[in-house]
Amino acid sequence: MASVGDVGSPGVVFRSFRAGDEAVFLTIMKECFGSLELIPRVKLGLAGPFFNPEGSFVAEKNGAAVGCIGIVSLPRAYWFELRYLGVTPDQPSLTVADKLLEMAMQFAASKGAERLKASTPAVQTYIDLYRKKGFEPARRQLQVGWDLTKERETPVSSVQTKEFAEDMAAEARRVWVASLRPYWDWWIEERGGPDSAGEWVEESVMDGDPWIGAFVDGRLVGTTLLWPNAYGEGEARFNGVYVLPEMRNKGTGRALMQAAIGKAKELGQKKMNVRTVAFLDHLAPGAALYLRCGGQVETEFLELYK
Ligand SMILES: CC(C)(COP(=O)(O)OP(=O)(O)OC[C@H]1O[C@@H](n2cnc3c(N)ncnc32)[C@H](O)[C@@H]1OP(=O)(O)O)[C@@H](O)C(=O)NCCC(=O)NCCS
Repeated sequence: MASVGDVGSPGVVFRSFRAGDEAVFLTIMKECFGSLELIPRVKLGLAGPFFNPEGSFVAEKNGAAVGCIGIVSLPRAYWFELRYLGVTPDQPSLTVADKLLEMAMQFAASKGAERLKASTPAVQTYIDLYRKKGFEPARRQLQVGWDLTKERETPVSSVQTKEFAEDMAAEARRVWVASLRPYWDWWIEERGGPDSAGEWVEESVMDGDPWIGAFVDGRLVGTTLLWPNAYGEGEARFNGVYVLPEMRNKGTGRALMQAAIGKAKELGQKKMNVRTVAFLDHLAPGAALYLRCGGQVETEFLELYK
């Protein structure tokens, strides 16, 4: 699909995503949001299984890309997520962004979308743009990071943590999904329910990812995981800390956090960060735990629904 811009965006051509546009998206996200967006994470998202090139678009002026928008087909049928909406700073108005948003929304509508979500760095102009199209803010996502080169006081916890392997794969899947509740119920729904939401856990344990569990009387009650070098040499992607609802507020989360930081250092990581949910007016327990354990908010995102 290609169309020429109207009076609001003279000379701008809008076209569908094509092979190789990943680099264009990364450049535009960087120019548009700078350090407010985590570019290596955008890269992983564009290469991920849910990115839908068919509903993603690029705006060009004089042959140079000046804007983009991506769409993700969530695993739940007829649910879509708009991401990576941005225009280069040299664009005089948001007309180009508005038109890109319109095109992606039209694509979703043409596929019978029942739920449309949007995710953006928490920058007012973009949030206003989504609001104008009828989207309402639902929650924040905080990117919390740790500088692992700094020494800090080690918190003491009596809860036992240890790495586990393949024989625990099915149990890890069960515990991880149960530990998402209730704060990530919306995510489980997006993923098509608890069964499909947990599939990746079993695969990841079988693949030998460095999972760590918290055990009480030999029973797995919480988990944590990080992927070393996922965002570059020495920069880990942290999956976070998860504890079964009935086992919370007993120091288990803190013990797992301590174990995760230890593991990251052992694997030669200098930095790690996690994207974690926060409500509109208060922190979820995960964010509270991370901030109490040396993490710092690096940037903030907003999720909206129409
Ligand atoms: C976040 C979570 C792992 C905390 O586990 P936990 O075993 O209850 O944590 P702890 O008992 O070790 O408490 C750790 C710290 O977090 C704080 N905390 C725990 N629950 C909290 C809450 N509901 N609100 C605010 N702070 C909270 C505690 O005060 C404690 O701080 P302190 O040790 O300085 O007093 C748990 O609530 C959970 O599994 N939540 C759902 C999964 C999730 O969202 N994980 C984050 C994914 S990115």
